[in-house]
Amino acid sequence: MRIKLIQDIIDILRCKKTIMPKKINLKVPEECKENIFKLENGGILAFNYEIFNDIVNYNKSADVSLFYNKLDTWSLKDCFEERFNKQMSFLKDKFIPLVEANDTICDVGCASGEFTFEMAKYCREIDGYEMSQKMVDWANNYAKENNVLNAKFYQGMCESIDYQKQYDKMALMGVLTYVFEDSKAETAIKNIYNALKPGGYLIYKDNTNETENNFYFFGPSLDYKMIARSKKNILELFKKTGFEVVNEDIFHRLKFKNMTSNENEPVELISLGLILQKTI
Ligand SMILES: C[S@@+](CC[C@H](N)C(=O)[O-])C[C@H]1O[C@@H](n2cnc3c(N)ncnc32)[C@H](O)[C@@H]1O
Repeated sequence: MRIKLIQDIIDILRCKKTIMPKKINLKVPEECKENIFKLENGGILAFNYEIFNDIVNYNKSADVSLFYNKLDTWSLKDCFEERFNKQMSFLKDKFIPLVEANDTICDVGCASGEFTFEMAKYCREIDGYEMSQKMVDWANNYAKENNVLNAKFYQGMCESIDYQKQYDKMALMGVLTYVFEDSKAETAIKNIYNALKPGGYLIYKDNTNETENNFYFFGPSLDYKMIARSKKNILELFKKTGFEVVNEDIFHRLKFKNMTSNENEPVELISLGLILQKTI
């Protein structure tokens, strides 16, 4: 009992309890039941935005922003160490070699700066933009206390940031998975394209899938929702905007089974890493 309590406290401190709450059972309207996967963790997976929204509304859920806004910091390393190592290796092996000492970088959706502070070691200046004001404050404070003079953090939503300068390199890692409307995701990508200098590079990471459709996840907690876009569609969107893929990696794959039916094949979520270049 005592050991369990100590383990629980350690887990809470390491965020595990925040992102992996106990199983819950989302309520699903009768008319939506046939078109979703019920997941092992009590959450659901929908294949269309209307159905996903119906279920979200039916559960009167809080907005996803609350999940991250509750946290002072977010550390992929503390929550999913293996995934962190993959992302960090991709960043160090494929992106950092492109960075020059005089470069300015912008890290969009930077959380409390876990990857921003790493990139800061290799460039002249780095700006981090993040939705959660708490994390922005934490990161600015960390920079001050640790004498990191070239990193500054600002509050901003990736779909509406008014970038104040053009950057040599940019990062958008694990962010569009919380931007549900395709039109907003498209605007975010276009704005990043415009904020990059010609020939500049973007490092991108996100949840995707290998079908033609977007997958929408809701749960297990009522403030956790995400979208895994069709990889094909997201690649087309980057291409249409004017980006060229110069490097690609898969960080991990996760299979999801429908718990209420054996008829469907499991679907797979793919964490995709890309290095993209602004072609003109
Ligand atoms: C999974 S974390 C990724 C953090 C970091 N980039 C990384 O790769 O570890 C997602 C972050 O995106 C932020 N976020 C979610 N939606 C956003 C939006 N529309 N604009 C800016 N940041 C957003 C969240 O607050 C959270 O800090």
